[in-house]
Amino acid sequence: VTARLRAVSILWLAGCPAPARTSISDAGTPGSTRIEILATGDVGSDTDVCGCKSKQLGGLARRAKLVKDRGAGALVVDAGDLFFRTWSIAPRYEAQARVTAELHADALRRMRAAAVAVGERDLALGVPYLRSMSARSGVPFLSANLVFTKSGTAAFDAFTIVERNGVRIGVIGASPEIGPKAQAFLAYERAGVTAQPVAAALEKAAKEARAKADVVVALLHVGQDPAAEALGKLPPGLVDLAIVGHERTTSRLAVAPEGRAAWVHAGARGKWLLSASIDVAKGAKGVIDATAVAAERKTIASIDERIAAYRTADAGASDPATAAKVGAERIATIERLEKRKRTIEAELAVLRTDGKHLVAAELIELLPELPEDPEMAERYAAYRARLFEVNSGEPPPDRAELEYTGNDGCKACHPKELAQWKTTKHAKAWDTMIRTRQVGNLDCVPCHVTGFDRRGGPQGIRGLERFVDVGCESCHGPGSAHARNPKVPLDYGLDVPERVCAECHRAAEDQKPFDYEERLPRVIGPGHRR
Ligand code: HEC
Ligand code: HEC
Ligand code: HEC
Ligand code: HEC
Repeated sequence: VTARLRAVSILWLAGCPAPARTSISDAGTPGSTRIEILATGDVGSDTDVCGCKSKQLGGLARRAKLVKDRGAGALVVDAGDLFFRTWSIAPRYEAQARVTAELHADALRRMRAAAVAVGERDLALGVPYLRSMSARSGVPFLSANLVFTKSGTAAFDAFTIVERNGVRIGVIGASPEIGPKAQAFLAYERAGVTAQPVAAALEKAAKEARAKADVVVALLHVGQDPAAEALGKLPPGLVDLAIVGHERTTSRLAVAPEGRAAWVHAGARGKWLLSASIDVAKGAKGVIDATAVAAERKTIASIDERIAAYRTADAGASDPATAAKVGAERIATIERLEKRKRTIEAELAVLRTDGKHLVAAELIELLPELPEDPEMAERYAAYRARLFEVNSGEPPPDRAELEYTGNDGCKACHPKELAQWKTTKHAKAWDTMIRTRQVGNLDCVPCHVTGFDRRGGPQGIRGLERFVDVGCESCHGPGSAHARNPKVPLDYGLDVPERVCAECHRAAEDQKPFDYEERLPRVIGPGHRR
């Protein structure tokens, strides 16, 4: 299934024009209520047209206008990775990243968005920052599977319930499972969060949401294959429609076996607005693709036309033997067509009477000629002016220029921390080298001093004086820029991850493994703690 779907996705992207919307007005189940879902995903902070080779698509002000025109009945959502281009933001780009995120938060408010899923890139400036964007926009940011690594408690709400056209809609969010080997894992590590398995978290959230809602929409920022897998495992009738993100692509609507759930990609970079609809039927369980229904109806219509044509056609031969033969063939063909028609009608009857919600999706291109929302356009102009302002200040230091200063670079401003540090074993690490007479041994020295062989740190035995002992920067990272200007953050400010300790605390086979929770309180303490 996935290989075929991927082929479709690529085609859809390469060809660019979005497929025409299937007219589902006549296929709607009688007595159902239609809700429209307007979705984006993987916007990656883009605010304006894409700068693409073929068509210039996108723009926040255009999206805002389109959304406004669809009316207040539409459910506006985003499938994650909205705020930032990357999950790691270099200091030089941070000011711009912040004002851009603020613009997106304001746009969410203006579009009266209902929910946003948390993508890994959204965590680039940490959980508290993301929460401040949630407050600014008035929109809940959702993830059913992100927990704080330390406490194991949920980092975000799993779902929210909203009402549109009298229909109660449960909206769930989920974030990608990223393992420690992947680069992007650092995004989770820096933010102090861990992603739990998607399928189990989704099922739990869906059950809770389902109890309070008529339909359930999941914003799965997990990629298509994991989304399809998770949805395929769910009991039928828990999630109706999933908007998928995490891959910068688009796809057609796909339906899991037995109509368990449908899913579709939301596109990327704000180039399109995905419009999906659900015809919500009372008591229905599961979904069917309206496009499939429409296609079946079209086939029936064309069979009808062919039957009519065969019926009225003339035998076309004067020779009675040939005419009889042609006539018999014609009758046989008509019978064959009628039989096919009955089969399709039977299929359609199943589709229609099965008590399922009807879903459909279309990608709307944000073409440059579309009108803009004047208020959003004005806000965007102010943002552009602000960019010039924030980016014309003193450039922040380049990573490559960062140096280790040794504890002398910190003591003037952090005397209490220094005093506490002096009471720890880390302050005795060089004494150990002296005691064991290993001050010249490169098999020992690197872990008993600060920043050894790191970029900007001591590179040999000579000139080690400033760096002896396991000093402040062993845990907090090189501090030259911060010592000059305390506003410049350190690599590890208040959260020194276990990985940093493990660089030196490697357990030998005969030792107990390093227990971070137990060890940390032994090296920080009064004077050196939040
Ligand atoms: C010129 C004074 C000064 C020097 C020198 C200095 N700091 Fe700081 N440091 C500060 C101030 C002020 C803050 C609080 C900054 C804030 O809250 O934005 C701070 C905050 C911190 C924090 C907490 C980080 C956080 O995110 O809140 C750490 C850790 C830290 N410094 C470590 C160091 C280390 C290590 C050194 C030596 C390499 C150092 N500092 C040198 C002034 C200094
Ligand atoms: C640059 C290497 C390095 C880093 C990074 C480092 N340590 Fe250490 N740690 C040492 C060395 C070396 C010693 C032993 C010092 C000595 O010679 O007595 C030590 C000792 C300790 C001790 C004391 C053990 C005892 O026997 O009482 C604790 C606890 C500890 N470290 C915890 C941590 C934690 C927690 C972190 C991370 C937040 C960390 N260390 C990071 C090198 C390091
Ligand atoms: C990979 C980093 C690393 C290297 C290399 C290293 N050490 Fe250590 N050393 C540590 C850490 C971490 C501790 C603290 C162990 C603990 O308590 O968990 C330590 C502790 C010690 C202690 C015990 C200190 C005390 O009084 O509690 C001695 C002695 C010691 N190291 C000597 C050496 C010698 C000698 C060498 C070279 C042969 C060496 N170390 C190489 C990381 C290292
Ligand atoms: C073993 C690793 C380690 C070393 C070495 C270390 N710190 Fe820290 N530091 C931490 C951790 C972990 C925290 C966060 C503690 C918390 O909030 O629970 C922290 C917090 C801080 C803070 C913010 C909290 C506060 O006390 O205001 C400052 C400032 C700071 N450290 C400065 C220093 C300085 C200066 C040194 C060297 C004298 C130093 N640290 C050495 C691990 C370390």
